[in-house]
Amino acid sequence: MNKVVIVTGGAGYIGSHTVVELFNAGFTPVLLDDFRNSQPWIIDRLEQLMGVRPLVHEVDCQDAIAVEEVFARYTNCDGVIHFAADKAVGESVVNPVKYYQNNVGSLCVILNAMKRFHLENLVFSSSCTVYGESDEIVVTEESPVKSAVSPYGDTKITCERIIRYQIEAEQDLKAFLLRYFNPIGAHPSGLIGELPQGVPNNLVPYITQTAKGIREKLTVFGGDYHTPDGTNIRDYIHVCDLARAHVLALNYLSSKEKPFCDVLNLGTGKGTSVLELITTFEDVNELKLNYTIGDRRSGDVEQIYANTQKAKEVLDWSCDFSLGDALRHSWQWEKGIKEHS
Ligand code: WQD
Repeated sequence: MNKVVIVTGGAGYIGSHTVVELFNAGFTPVLLDDFRNSQPWIIDRLEQLMGVRPLVHEVDCQDAIAVEEVFARYTNCDGVIHFAADKAVGESVVNPVKYYQNNVGSLCVILNAMKRFHLENLVFSSSCTVYGESDEIVVTEESPVKSAVSPYGDTKITCERIIRYQIEAEQDLKAFLLRYFNPIGAHPSGLIGELPQGVPNNLVPYITQTAKGIREKLTVFGGDYHTPDGTNIRDYIHVCDLARAHVLALNYLSSKEKPFCDVLNLGTGKGTSVLELITTFEDVNELKLNYTIGDRRSGDVEQIYANTQKAKEVLDWSCDFSLGDALRHSWQWEKGIKEHS
């Protein structure tokens, strides 16, 4: 069996795209997922893309006994990519305990299991939200991590700290903390993509559901920010570019001596406003979107995008897909979804 990689949350949005990239790179991905943020038929789609059915264990990563039973079966495991977490900023404000219990709790389960089975390579799914309302618009990995604007963001900051402390204490772990900016898009095949549960919190799935007629119109949250067109600016990165970075990060870790811990911003290095994204979506898909400018959404930072120099230097990684590619792939994926949960 090729080098095994355990992928928690492997049936999720970024997880499933990473599973495909791992397989294409010669790894054998083993998925741990309880399908709270996915659907079982995503595994059928992965089988179509990979030509073989991936190994899947339906496990809640908060369940230490179940997790360690799985880990015990893969003693030739090369590493762990930990995606499994709840990630809705708004929901985390309403139900913070759920977020700390799951996001922080499951990380502790994974770290204990890695220690027990002497696994030393960890790639952790973090987020640019750790920068909070940054004083710098273009953030580097050295930009200050500020108090998060949501419990979700605080769980990511907390998890990063736990990993660092664990490495300092045990000296036998190597970790990359990958801070995603705004993942968008879908696999070019149209077979996998983002599957928001219920009403989408994020911009692009709300746009595609509006274009499909599921939502009546998009509300742009705020048109009076101090940006060129008055709307928020973000760094929207194609999910396949993001997935590929995880494979490079894992290979890099395998080449390093322990202990090791580093952080990487994963974005395009370009800022795009909400209105610019809408216009690009309309242009590449040759349609008009129904939207209005409404009130600001609390907790939104005005503008943030990534300085991606470090990821280029360390992993020799940069994005292949454009914003237009991502928005074309998102729309293609949306059109193929038979029913939303
Ligand atoms: C993007 C822009 C909104 C919806 C969050 C998390 C981050 C990551 C990605 C998990 C903002 C505007 C949105 C809508 C709008 N999540 N918007 N109308 O808030 O930048 O980042 O999701 O890993 O950690 O913080 O993403 O897509 O929600 O919003 O105008 O209906 O789109 O105001 O400016 P965000 P988003």
